[in-house]
Amino acid sequence: MKVLVVGHGGREHALAWKLLQSKQIEQVVCVPGNGGTASMERCQNLPMAVDDFEAIAQCALEQGITLVVVGPEVPLAKGITDFLRSQGLKVFGPTKAGAQIEASKAWAKALMQEAGIPTARAVVFTEAAAAKSYVKAQGVPIVVKADGLAAGKGVIVAETEQQAQAAIDAMFGGEFGSAGKFVVIEEYLTGQEVSILALSDGLTIRPLLSAQDHKRIGEGDTGENTGGMGAYAPAPIATPELMVKIQKQVLERAIATLRAKGIDYRGVLYAGLMITDSGDFKVLEFNCRFGDPETQVVLPLLETPLEELILACVEQRLAQMPPITWKQGAAVTIVAASGGYPGAYEKGKVITGIEQAEVLGTTVFHAGTKALPSKSEGTRQLITDGGRVLNITGVGENFEQALAQAYTGIQCIHFEGMYYRRDIGHRVR
Ligand code: AMP
Ligand code: GLY
Repeated sequence: MKVLVVGHGGREHALAWKLLQSKQIEQVVCVPGNGGTASMERCQNLPMAVDDFEAIAQCALEQGITLVVVGPEVPLAKGITDFLRSQGLKVFGPTKAGAQIEASKAWAKALMQEAGIPTARAVVFTEAAAAKSYVKAQGVPIVVKADGLAAGKGVIVAETEQQAQAAIDAMFGGEFGSAGKFVVIEEYLTGQEVSILALSDGLTIRPLLSAQDHKRIGEGDTGENTGGMGAYAPAPIATPELMVKIQKQVLERAIATLRAKGIDYRGVLYAGLMITDSGDFKVLEFNCRFGDPETQVVLPLLETPLEELILACVEQRLAQMPPITWKQGAAVTIVAASGGYPGAYEKGKVITGIEQAEVLGTTVFHAGTKALPSKSEGTRQLITDGGRVLNITGVGENFEQALAQAYTGIQCIHFEGMYYRRDIGHRVR
């Protein structure tokens, strides 16, 4: 099999890395990939934009690609799956209609309400005055969300009425582009968040291992929201009993309701849940793709060959697959970020120490890196090329071993301004 992976993050490096562990996979082509995918054997980067569907289709057809796996939400929301399928390609990832579950929070909320999926109480607004008077009536804290895709920046947890009003003005004022045409105002929930990534073929849905992300930049979960600063799997808070409820009340209801709308959802459905102190849960959001960095801790523990699961989804025979099997133990990943992220940061810093970290047993997934042409034979210089740069991943027989491996590994790595959180997994330490 030849697989084309769309995207350039740590998630896509992990997908390519996992696929290449199988003898069935002859080659992986990454569009556009990063410095990590460029340096793997049997893996090739193609410098194309993820929304240049025609170029991607042409290259996939020319190269005899068997399967396309789409990482990020933006091309899914723009209809990459619809287009590539129309060209006769097999694609893992929902159609444009299915991707609305992430691309429109108002649409997703209506779906949850229709399906009877437990979720935070919310109202959708189309203009500022009504939104503000609703906030006044509800009181704070309250959560203000731009409807559309906003690269993780469209959610404001407002502690004061002024903050909520400013968020409403910013969203309707166009600061989030068309993402802010509708604004969802939602009840504030407390508890622990957990990410459930599930595979679906449009009929059947099966969860992968639970994971917990760390969204804030600062230790103790403080400061600005980011794409995710680290993760671990499995998340003990998602007990087997809770997973049964999530399967029935969230995943199966979502797929059945999508199906009733005529949406044949073949890809990952990612449910972001809040588990309250009393053990109840509510869905905060759905994503139409693998999580980043959750994928970097879930895939290292997966025993069933990934391409078998993905093909079963694409060919709508997930129900016939044997149960998914997992390695015993745990995985932890720590994000090494550029100084300044999630605000402004510099790129182009030389990265050293990855090989040493790998010698210690860690797996280093690249996110924002670029490989420069080798100066001397056999060596490639790597430089930073994004906010989240590397994911240093440890796998162990238990959480403590995985954590220790990841933190020992990251100490080998250096680039100017490198920042990482020292408290990944603090809830289970
Ligand atoms: P979302 O993109 O909807 O997952 O929101 C991003 C982050 O905002 C979540 O991971 C939570 O940390 C926070 N958040 C979203 N909705 C709520 C809510 N209703 N109550 C409390 N925090 C929330
Ligand atoms: N880790 C959060 C996300 O992938 O959306």
